[in-house]
Amino acid sequence: MERHSRDAAVTLDKFADTFRRVFERPPEIETRAPGRVNLIGEHTDYNDGFVLPADIDRAIWIYAAARDDRLVRAHSLDFGQTTVFNTAKIERDDNAIWVNYIQGVIHEYQKRGDTIRGMDLLLSGNVPMGSGLSSSAALEVATAETCRILTGLEIDPVSMALLCQAAERNFIGVQCGIMDQFVSTLGRENTALFLDCRDLSYELVPLKMQARIVICDSRKQRSLQTSEYNKRRAECEGAARALDAILGNVKALRDVSPEQLEEHKDRMPELWYRRARHVVTENQRVLSAVGFLKAGDIRQFGRLMYDSHASLRDDYEVSCPELDILVELAAAQQGTIGARMTGAGFGGCTVNLVSSEAVAEFQATVGEKYQAKTSLKPMIYVCSPSNGVTHRRL
Ligand code: GLA
Repeated sequence: MERHSRDAAVTLDKFADTFRRVFERPPEIETRAPGRVNLIGEHTDYNDGFVLPADIDRAIWIYAAARDDRLVRAHSLDFGQTTVFNTAKIERDDNAIWVNYIQGVIHEYQKRGDTIRGMDLLLSGNVPMGSGLSSSAALEVATAETCRILTGLEIDPVSMALLCQAAERNFIGVQCGIMDQFVSTLGRENTALFLDCRDLSYELVPLKMQARIVICDSRKQRSLQTSEYNKRRAECEGAARALDAILGNVKALRDVSPEQLEEHKDRMPELWYRRARHVVTENQRVLSAVGFLKAGDIRQFGRLMYDSHASLRDDYEVSCPELDILVELAAAQQGTIGARMTGAGFGGCTVNLVSSEAVAEFQATVGEKYQAKTSLKPMIYVCSPSNGVTHRRL
């Protein structure tokens, strides 16, 4: 977990050695859980809607060995911090934020009745933090997998994703949806994961396009993210309640069509209406986008990405000037098929579809122009969708 990229291979080579040095014993397993980029379907997951994320080729790694007691000794290479706690006594740690994700996951396992044994853990990663690429979900999922293997727990992948989401909501306090933890657990390389966030049915849609997924990290640190995120969620729930009172059977905005919303928009505050308009139109965009992806029509897919960005910017108000500039610069660039902010917003990254032959020029020009406009040096990289969580015995 660090803001700058790093050659993962170099890190991995040194990992086992470092583990031995720190804990004076060899590691038993390596766990890897990726970050994600969401291609389309933003702020729809907690409205029981549709999303289309993919796992990125950046991840959190945990090297681990079981202990006979219930102590967890965890060392983060990226934070340069070590911490020790007892799995029988889980308490929030305000001095080492990253530890809370680990504790949150253990806490959720124990709520199910599983007794998590002690472990020595060495953590590192190259998912940039605070960039909307889900470094937190990657840490939760890597922790959940490590606990599963070392304690020998029976849990299916969907339940594991739900457990990680519960950790984030109950322990960290972000009332997040299921998208990030789900794709970090169940995604597969070279595919996007089309997920129905109501019943958790999903389909892996092959990404075989003559285009690359390019991620632009604005390097604008996200601010107010938790409070604004929870506020958006409450506004959507307010709109759903107002519509339920008229239409009945509205459990979430997923149950509302754009036409129904238009018809009853005067039954709710204007702000709720705009929030709801984003969600109901975004759900439709995801369904259309999946159709276009399967049909190989990436031009139409790209057009929906631009529409999604405009809706997030104007109706949902989770973009920021830096993300808007990145999208505008991308759109002006030859070879760009689509661009939008990705993740929760308020800073972080954009995701772009760029024709393969135009990628180098895109990286150079968008990077240069963005820096000239904002004085921020963006990080722009091409992403190859990777596998969800994996582990191997060492
Ligand atoms: C964050 C949350 C997800 C989702 C996105 C917005 O990444 O963790 O559940 O709501 O924001 O689409």
